[in-house]
Amino acid sequence: MAVAELVAKCLQAREMAYCPYSGFPVGAAILTTGGAIITGCNVENASYGLTVCAERTAIQRAVAEGYRRFTAIAVTCDIKDSFVGPCGACRQVLMEFGTEWDVYLTKPDGTYRKTSLRDLLPLAFTPAHLQKN
Ligand code: THU
Repeated sequence: MAVAELVAKCLQAREMAYCPYSGFPVGAAILTTGGAIITGCNVENASYGLTVCAERTAIQRAVAEGYRRFTAIAVTCDIKDSFVGPCGACRQVLMEFGTEWDVYLTKPDGTYRKTSLRDLLPLAFTPAHLQKN
């Protein structure tokens, strides 16, 4: 898999962001174990709290399309001078579908920093904990 393709897809997905309130577009692209790429963008709402982040849009779309095993996600926003990570809520939602994600924090120019979901959400609460009581 070319990381370049995943990164390009998250940049494309950002173009679709619906963010009239924040003016802060975000794009995400998720790679499945089979090599499919599913994208998402943030979708805001006039009732602000109902806004859905790009990462969660992407994973909900992926699950609805029948995918449950993932290896990587690329995320981007318009910030040019630093690598920006997913919000805490999205980290938790990604963790539901595996602890071994590579995460590519992507700048608008396509440069990226590779990290992992484990590093972004240490000591996470996962579905495995529900089996242990
Ligand atoms: N946002 C995301 O889409 N992903 C994140 O990880 C952080 C924030 C969106 C939500 C909202 O539409 C806008 O960015 C500003 O918070």
